[in-house]
Amino acid sequence: MGNFQFFLASILAFFGVCLDGIYAVSCTLRASGGDDGPALKAAAQRCSTVLIPNGVILSIGTALDMTGLRNTHINVQGTVKFTDDVPYWTGNAFFFDFQNQSTFWLLGGKNILLDGGGTIDGSGQIWYDEFATNASLIRPIILTVFNGEDVVIRNIKQINSPEWFNLVHSSERVLYDQVHINAISTSSNTIKNTDGWDIYRSNSVAITNSVINNGDDCVSFKPNATNILVANLRCNGSHGISVGSLGQYPGVYDIVENVLATNITMSNAQNGARIKAWAGPNVGSGIVKNITFSKFFETNVDNPVVIDQCYETSAALCTEFPSNTYIQDVWFDDISGTSSGAEKGVVASLACSPDGRCSDINVNNLSLSPPPGDGNATFSCQNVNVTGNAASMFGTCPSTA
Ligand SMILES: *[C@@H]1O[C@H](CO)[C@@H](O)[C@H](O)[C@H]1NC(C)=O
Ligand SMILES: *[C@@H]1O[C@H](CO)[C@@H](O)[C@H](O)[C@H]1NC(C)=O
Ligand SMILES: *[C@@H]1O[C@H](CO)[C@@H](O)[C@H](O)[C@H]1NC(C)=O
Ligand SMILES: *[C@@H]1O[C@H](CO)[C@@H](O)[C@H](O)[C@H]1NC(C)=O
Ligand SMILES: *[C@@H]1O[C@H](CO)[C@@H](O)[C@H](O)[C@H]1NC(C)=O
Ligand SMILES: *[C@@H]1O[C@H](CO)[C@@H](O)[C@H](O)[C@H]1NC(C)=O
Ligand SMILES: *[C@@H]1O[C@H](CO)[C@@H](O)[C@H](O)[C@H]1NC(C)=O
Ligand SMILES: *[C@@H]1O[C@H](CO)[C@@H](O)[C@H](O)[C@H]1NC(C)=O
Ligand SMILES: *[C@@H]1O[C@H](CO)[C@@H](O)[C@H](O)[C@H]1NC(C)=O
Repeated sequence: MGNFQFFLASILAFFGVCLDGIYAVSCTLRASGGDDGPALKAAAQRCSTVLIPNGVILSIGTALDMTGLRNTHINVQGTVKFTDDVPYWTGNAFFFDFQNQSTFWLLGGKNILLDGGGTIDGSGQIWYDEFATNASLIRPIILTVFNGEDVVIRNIKQINSPEWFNLVHSSERVLYDQVHINAISTSSNTIKNTDGWDIYRSNSVAITNSVINNGDDCVSFKPNATNILVANLRCNGSHGISVGSLGQYPGVYDIVENVLATNITMSNAQNGARIKAWAGPNVGSGIVKNITFSKFFETNVDNPVVIDQCYETSAALCTEFPSNTYIQDVWFDDISGTSSGAEKGVVASLACSPDGRCSDINVNNLSLSPPPGDGNATFSCQNVNVTGNAASMFGTCPSTA
């Protein structure tokens, strides 16, 4: 953690010098009654500090390309609210080939601080409702840090993103701290795919001291996420802290390396700590290496501890075509709490592909139980030699090939 603290301290020191004096052009924005997107974008390009005062609600009806900024402080005390104009956004949000994602807002450049205690509002309800009848609807991510270096996003609320809340794409040294995420549907249509964070092709990212209430991964490490710290989160309703899924696309090599996720409270979730990779014919390849999940406090979680190296693949195909994504040097340490009972007594499942695809998998101090009435805790595994002081809970893991 030493490196991350150093990284944080140096970024904050930089802003201290830069924002207090050298080029201080401060701009304050007010709502115009129309589309405030062009004014917000122009201010970010022109001013070193952009203030959206408390009580001001900016309505954003144009896609915000705020890449290439330098030494910019965006101080959101009020609200930045994206319009619910679905036809406009489906045609004009920025599109990424990766998993057919799109976004309202690209934030990039060097030395950027976004803070202020205010709110970014994605007007998600219309998207939750329309997605229920149009599964191919491309729903925007509320905020994407793209081609960013030394970016700090701190003390911000994000509500009702149409889809993922945050994507970190092709960026380096990005810190999220004290981010409060909340997705709520007021209709019977659910808040699908509202990941808290997805990290893709990015290095040195930290997410700390945050509270998340959402309907998909709390944090997900996508291909080429390296040197990541996730600490002190309270996740509710999510699909857990997830590596992957990796190795999905033929010909593509995916790396997730050097991840520490620690002090995580995980409630009412589908998963707790999870690694998932594809197997079967026509998939990709990759490596997951040096991943630590420690100090997870779980309540009502379907699968508290998971390695699934046969993700979306039948047992027969997984044996015939083992995953080409290798998983090495993984620690599940100090994970405690209760499952939901969705998997009966199973509280941990380490399901590897055959042929030594998983190695150096460690479990220490596991204290997990199913809810009363679901029998004894079961720890299941296959094709893996488990080590650590909780290894005996798993017994001898069967080999499937
Ligand atoms: C993106 O959407 C297109 C058209 O629906 C589909 O053919 C393609 O498989 C999708 N790509 C990914 C990466 O999901
Ligand atoms: C569903 O969403 C897609 C992609 O955004 C869009 O092209 C299509 O027109 C929508 N279909 C309907 C029936 O609205
Ligand atoms: C763990 O996270 C909680 C917030 O969920 C925080 O209050 C607590 O101080 C953290 N503990 C440590 C040791 O950092
Ligand atoms: C936590 O998640 C559960 C299940 O999704 C939901 O019913 C509950 O309202 C959430 N609690 C909070 C405080 O958001
Ligand atoms: C990940 O990084 C490796 C090494 O630089 C590269 O070969 C691979 O194409 C990258 N994969 C993705 C999905 O960007
Ligand atoms: C493993 O990852 C952690 C970050 O979680 C990092 O501090 C450590 O240096 C890495 N170990 C190696 C051998 O790279
Ligand atoms: C396991 O728990 C013991 C006692 O709390 C602690 O000293 C040790 O560091 C823990 N081991 C790991 C690997 O977390
Ligand atoms: C649970 O474990 C206890 C003690 O090992 C054993 O007596 C009991 O039969 C087990 N119950 C079930 C349902 O397996
Ligand atoms: C487990 O360890 C034994 C002895 O080192 C080795 O022969 C075997 O291949 C290992 N199994 C797996 C699934 O890695």
